[in-house]
Amino acid sequence: MCGIVGYVGKRTAQNVLLNGLKRLEYRGYDSAGIATLDDTDKPHIARSVGKIAELENVLLVKPHKGHLGIGHTRWATHGGVTVSNAHPHHVGDVYLVHNGIIENYKELKEQLSEYEFQSDTDTEVLAALIDSNYKNGISLKDAVAKALKKVRGTYGIAAFSPNEPGTIIVARLGSPLIIGLGQDETIIASDASALLGYTREAIYLNDGEIAVCTEKGAEVFNLNLKHLSPNPETIEGDVEQIQKGGYDHFLLKEIMEQATTLHNTLSGRIDPEQGKMHLGGPNLTAKEMRDINHIVIVGCGTAYYAGLLASYYMEQLIPDLTTEVVVASEYRYRSFHLPQNSVALIVSQSGETADTLACLREIKKRGVKTLGIVNVIGSTIAREVDGGTYVHAGPEISVASTKAFTAQVVTMVMFAGMLAEYHGGNVELIAKITKELSILPKEIEKTLKDHREDVKNLAKKYCKYNDALYLGRDTAYPIALEGALKLKEISYIHAEGYASGELKHGPIALVDETFFEVFNILDNWLFDKSIGGLHEVRARGGKAIVFTNSKAEIEADDIIRINSKIKILTPLLLNTLQQLFAYYVAVNRGNDVDQPRNLAKSVTVE
Ligand code: AGP
Repeated sequence: MCGIVGYVGKRTAQNVLLNGLKRLEYRGYDSAGIATLDDTDKPHIARSVGKIAELENVLLVKPHKGHLGIGHTRWATHGGVTVSNAHPHHVGDVYLVHNGIIENYKELKEQLSEYEFQSDTDTEVLAALIDSNYKNGISLKDAVAKALKKVRGTYGIAAFSPNEPGTIIVARLGSPLIIGLGQDETIIASDASALLGYTREAIYLNDGEIAVCTEKGAEVFNLNLKHLSPNPETIEGDVEQIQKGGYDHFLLKEIMEQATTLHNTLSGRIDPEQGKMHLGGPNLTAKEMRDINHIVIVGCGTAYYAGLLASYYMEQLIPDLTTEVVVASEYRYRSFHLPQNSVALIVSQSGETADTLACLREIKKRGVKTLGIVNVIGSTIAREVDGGTYVHAGPEISVASTKAFTAQVVTMVMFAGMLAEYHGGNVELIAKITKELSILPKEIEKTLKDHREDVKNLAKKYCKYNDALYLGRDTAYPIALEGALKLKEISYIHAEGYASGELKHGPIALVDETFFEVFNILDNWLFDKSIGGLHEVRARGGKAIVFTNSKAEIEADDIIRINSKIKILTPLLLNTLQQLFAYYVAVNRGNDVDQPRNLAKSVTVE
C-alpha cells in the first residue's frame, strides 16, 4: 500500500520525510521519493526504486535543505516499478504524491493532450489536470478542488507549488490522510505512525475534504470550498499498534480490511448496470479469447484453493470450457499435456513461490499462454507470465493469506465473466455475478461486523480441541479446504478439509467426541445432501459447527447464519467467518498469529 508524508515548518523537511517514510515501510512498497522547496523557493525532487536506503543514497549526493516537502512510498498499480513512475510527480508548477486509484485516468489523459507524459501512472495525469487549472491563475487549493471534482476513484494526495511557498494542499477520498498539528510545524501522513515523535494532535481528513496546510496549522474545506471546522483528535497507541490499524495482529487487520481492499480489486473492472466484467491485463486478442477451450489453474496452498473455487464459477459461466486445477509442486514434475488453445492461470500472492514459478516455466515450455493472477507488483511470476492481472489486495503481511484469497477468487471470476462474453456465456448469470461483485465489499464488511463476536465466542469454546474436519459441497468444498488450512497453519490444530460427500468413504471413521467439524452449508440445491453429512457426524458424537446462509432449521452444536443479498458468491462470505475463527482459536492458544512456526510468507524454496 502506498504511503504519504508531508512537512512544513522549522525543521529540515528531508529528515522528517525520510523518518516518516521509514515508519510506512511495513505497508510494502517498491519505490520512494521526496520533493522539497528550498528557502529560495526552488523545487527539488529525488526518487529511486527499491528500498528507502536507495533514496537516502541519492540524497547523500545531493541533500535537500528546504523546510517544506512531500514524500511517497509507491506500491505500483498503474505502470511498472521505475524511477519515472515513482512519486512525487511534477507537471508544470504542481508537485504531487497520491495514494489510491484514479479509475478514469485514461479519459482524463485524453483531455490533456497538450501535456507530454513522462510516466505510465494515473498520478501524473492528476498532476496535469491540477496544473491545467492552476495555470489559469487560480490558487493551488482551488485548482486541486476543481480537478478532484472530475476524478472517479480513490485518492489521498499532497501537493505544493513553488508559487505558493509554505503551503501544502492535501485531500482525501477513500485513502487516509492525517494532518499532524505541531508547534510551528505541520506534518501530514497517510498513517498516524509517521506522526509520532512530532505530535499526537491531528486532524483526520474525511472523504471529500481538502485542506491548506502551513506551519501554523491547517484550514479544512469541502470540495465546494465551504470552510469546515474539524476538531483535532489525539493519536493513541504506539507505532506498532498504529501500523496494525489498532488491531492486535496484522492478520486480524487484513481479515477486517478485505471490504476496503476489495474495492481496489474491483475498481474499474465491473459494470453492474451493464452486467459486464472487464480486466485490462490478459493481453489476449478477441480471437484468442474465443479460441480458449481449456483453462488450467496453477497454485500452492491458499492460491490453489482460490483457483479451485474459481473453477466452479468458470464452468457455470462458460459452458463450452473445461477446467483443471493443479497443485504446482506436483504438476511441475508430471508428464502433462495440455490441449491446443489452453490458457494457464498462475495464481500467487507473493509472485515468488518456487514451485509455482517452476510450473509456470514448464507450462511455457509447452507453448501454452500463461496469465498471472498475482498480488505483488513486479514479482518474478508477474514478470514471467505472458499477461495477467494484479489482484490489488495491497501488501499482505501476515503469513496466513486471507484478503489475497478473496481478491484472487474475485479476479479469476472477473476473468471468467469477461471470457464468457466470447463464448456465448449465460448473459443472465454474468449480470447476476457482476451485481453480486458490486455489493461484495459491503456484504463482507456486514458479515464480519455482524458475526465477529459470535465467532470469537465459538473459538473460545473449541480452542482446546486437537482434531477437526472441515466439510462442504460444491462451491463450499474449496472453502472447507481453505478453512482447514487457515486453522492448521495458525492454531496448529490437526484440521482436514473434505468434500462432505467423501465423509462415508473413510473420514467418518475418525469422528468421535474428540473431534469438531465445521460444515459450510449453502442454501442451494445440495442443501439436503449437506445436512445428511451433518447428521452422520453428530450421530457419532462429533461436535458440529455450521456456517450457513440458510434460514432452515438445522440441528447443530453451534450455528452462525449469515443474512446477505449475496447468493452465488456466498462461499466468500462464509470463508471470512472461517478466517476469523482460525484467528481467534490461534489467539486463544497463545500462538504467534502473524508468524506461525515453521512457515514463511513466501515459499521461495522447493
Ligand atoms: C496461505 O495461508 C499459506 N501461507 C500458503 O499456503 C500460501 O498460500 C502458499 O505458500 C502460496 O503462496 P503464494 O500465493 O505467495 O504463491
